[in-house]
Amino acid sequence: MRTEDLIKYDNEHILHGLALVGKNQGFVIESADGVLLKDTDGKVLMDLSAQAINVNLGHNRRDILEVAKAQMDKLTFSFLLRGFVNLPSIQLAQKLATIVPKGLDHFLWTHTGADTVDCAFRLANLYWKAKGARKYKIISLRHSYHGTTRGVAMATNLAKGIIEEMPPAPGHIRIPNYYCYRCPFDKEYPGCGIQCAKFLEYTIENEGKDSVAAFIAEPEQGATGFIAPPPEYWPMVREICTKYDVLLIADEVMTGFARTGKMFAVEHWNVVPDMMCLSKGIVAGYLPFGALAFSGEIFRALSGQFLPLGSTESGNPVCCAVAIKCIDIYVKERIPEHVAQVGQRARSRMEKEFLALPHVGTVDGLGLMLAVEIVTDKESKGMPSPKLTNIIQRRGIEKGALLRVVGNRLGYSPPCTITQEESDRALDILYSVLSELKPQDLAP
Ligand SMILES: Cc1ncc(COP(=O)(O)O)c(C=O)c1O
Repeated sequence: MRTEDLIKYDNEHILHGLALVGKNQGFVIESADGVLLKDTDGKVLMDLSAQAINVNLGHNRRDILEVAKAQMDKLTFSFLLRGFVNLPSIQLAQKLATIVPKGLDHFLWTHTGADTVDCAFRLANLYWKAKGARKYKIISLRHSYHGTTRGVAMATNLAKGIIEEMPPAPGHIRIPNYYCYRCPFDKEYPGCGIQCAKFLEYTIENEGKDSVAAFIAEPEQGATGFIAPPPEYWPMVREICTKYDVLLIADEVMTGFARTGKMFAVEHWNVVPDMMCLSKGIVAGYLPFGALAFSGEIFRALSGQFLPLGSTESGNPVCCAVAIKCIDIYVKERIPEHVAQVGQRARSRMEKEFLALPHVGTVDGLGLMLAVEIVTDKESKGMPSPKLTNIIQRRGIEKGALLRVVGNRLGYSPPCTITQEESDRALDILYSVLSELKPQDLAP
């Protein structure tokens, strides 16, 4: 089939999440290697988003593929429901326990980020039920992203929200996010006293601490364009959650596994949450998989009780074997340290070269989860036209790069294994896309 026929068929038959129905990007990826993607017309693109910020170890590594094949030869499937056990799932738990923050060494295997967050909410509810408390409310942040399935989309709050076809479910409370460049409280860091964190305390008191089960947040907001918190934020919300007996859930689905220059982003602030949602980087895009890591206190409260969750594929042995291999690579190849180094150089180039452009308002993010925010002018911080997203995406492709653009924020999140030389080349492309923007591209 010719590319144009493939594109037509796709547009007419297949739904794509988070996109206009019937309107694909106009090219078809056929193969990949390292940081490079190749389409069905032979065009090569640098993958500067690592797809959905999940291909942390680069595309098509033979060593990972070999592990998957070897596991398939030995045991392709054996389920964990109803108390059955397979070997790779125990080996993965033991391996993961060596890298997660201390105390989070109890696990539930899942398939996707959304599924993991859903399980975190259910486990929080089950935990409080087991403790005899009627704590059921979940507090999340505006402009957060936790997935699109019905169970978690109530906490996902991209702009207007994800679920607009029905009223929001009761028991979900959203509070302003951290976003220093456009502070929701109209304050300025550090004189703000970190109002965004303090507002959590105000909300728990207002809702009644006896009714709040958990607070969930991304350590750095991802899908809304790579917004990093002020350094005081996570230690403060940890303290508030402890004070009011509210479970703290860190959604590390995107930030986990080296992305921010630490194995897990909460390590930047020495914070240990009660639960950590993991997916994406745990298998780096080689298979669908996820994990919920949680404390011994939660495990003990549930011990001996029937667990009304789980699914057929949970703990799939091939996924577990691939996750073990990926963790080995993150550790042996010191990927978090590599990200910190390459990310530091990328950030300083952005601050020096990119920020000097009249329409770049700020540089944000940690490790290789960086972004620049594009404005009409620095003074007014005016929002450019929504058509800018498409313009940037197109120009990136013309210059040989698949870029991460969310509204007026241009991200930089290549595979964590990108070399310094490749990263320098990638930043040249980003700079040339930005510097060639004309006033008519930005006009609202
Ligand atoms: C922080 C966070 N949580 C959850 C999800 C949902 O993950 P999935 O797309 O695998 O359902 C994402 C996806 O981008 C995410 O970034």
